[in-house]
Amino acid sequence: MKVTDAEVDIVRLLKDGDGAHISGQTMSLELGMSRTAVWKHIGALRKAGYSIEGSPRKGYRLGRSPVPFNGVEVLSRLEGGLIGRDLFFYPTLESTNSKAYLMAAEGAEEGTVVVADCQSGGKGRLGRTWHSPPGLNLYASVILKPPIPPQEAQTLTLMAAVAVAEAVAAYSPVRPTVKWPNDILIDSKKAAGILTEMNSETDRVNFVILGVGVNLNMNIPDELLKTATSIREKTGEEVPRAAFASALFSSIEKWYKVYLDRGFEQVREAWKGYFEKEGKPVRVRGSQEVEGICLGIDSQGSLLVRLASGSTERVIAGELV
Ligand code: BTN
Repeated sequence: MKVTDAEVDIVRLLKDGDGAHISGQTMSLELGMSRTAVWKHIGALRKAGYSIEGSPRKGYRLGRSPVPFNGVEVLSRLEGGLIGRDLFFYPTLESTNSKAYLMAAEGAEEGTVVVADCQSGGKGRLGRTWHSPPGLNLYASVILKPPIPPQEAQTLTLMAAVAVAEAVAAYSPVRPTVKWPNDILIDSKKAAGILTEMNSETDRVNFVILGVGVNLNMNIPDELLKTATSIREKTGEEVPRAAFASALFSSIEKWYKVYLDRGFEQVREAWKGYFEKEGKPVRVRGSQEVEGICLGIDSQGSLLVRLASGSTERVIAGELV
């Protein structure tokens, strides 16, 4: 569901009220809408998880229950103008990427964001599934329409890795690292993943869906214990999801602007700051397996590996093992 400015404004008024009742009339005057419209929005906000007490004579006030995680909480914290200009929030989706892809195909604007509390079919890279339980993590997809040819899409993925790493760094006690191309690791275990899906023609990108999954508060299931972690596992403290989501969207906005205004070179420098494998032995599984010394990434985001023979292999897509 699309989050409306009216809902954000009503919640702001209720929070400012600090437990006091605010009459329907005051709200309707302050917000420039009818009392019936206020009443309808209050109904929607209750569905979105707020406990709002209503009394015919005194008006409305926020109950004491904890503030829920929903689109209003995310949107009310956003300051940028592009990412999240339209924000859709769903309690459950099969996949935020699939939803955003459909919306983009139907004309949704650049910067539109889709967030879900839980995914029933979260998609990972290379056809894998992304573990997406409710109430714990962040699953979000952003629609971008960069003026680039499809061959350059990999650089956008690396831009996303920098943005996600920066947001994770603000909440993690340990500086995260990136694993080429775009896994975000804390202490060598995966804390966040990025799945970019593209719709393009031969020479231009129509849109890109940037899907981000961040393990914020979940206990890692047994089958993932060796490879995955969550931020709460490192800090012992719950990560506030709405605040994290808005930090992530601000970071994506910042780095997307750098990417568009100053080019990939600037982004590449930042990406290198999170990359630990340069100069070290690596093994990459791509169309074939490549082993050698990592020389970093080139201007298209491909991984450069010096083989034992002395020649340099350029790996466009694959996975570091
Ligand atoms: C990876 O394999 O590392 C990529 C994981 C990407 C998961 C996110 S969760 C939000 C978005 N929707 C999806 O279905 N996948 C991405």
